[in-house]
Amino acid sequence: MTDDDMKTTSAAKTRLVRVCAVEDVDEEDTLQVEVEGEDLSALAVYRVQGDEIYVSDDFCTHGKASLGDEGYLEGHIIECTWHDGKFDIRTGEPVALPCTEPIKVYPVTVIDGEVYITVK
Ligand code: FES
Repeated sequence: MTDDDMKTTSAAKTRLVRVCAVEDVDEEDTLQVEVEGEDLSALAVYRVQGDEIYVSDDFCTHGKASLGDEGYLEGHIIECTWHDGKFDIRTGEPVALPCTEPIKVYPVTVIDGEVYITVK
């Protein structure tokens, strides 16, 4: 298999999935989204500083609170309101206890005001 074959094979295994419209999410706020017809958990969409969008799995890794529905967003940090754990939405890494496991984050593409994530 050549390097070009590997790139094609790798690219063919990923695809874009529409999540919502940018305007569905208020600025400096979050939104819980369930994408119908996809084998994905619920998602949390974050809108930071205008049209800067991030997407992660919705549930906090500490106790399954909804980050998209109940989280408090400040800059690039989402605070889980159940026990005050925090994550960096750019990387998914926990930044405040009791959270120690990262949340899964997705590559985001915005096309004509629509938010897409890349999934495998
Ligand atoms: S459920 Fe999120 S910090 Fe406990």
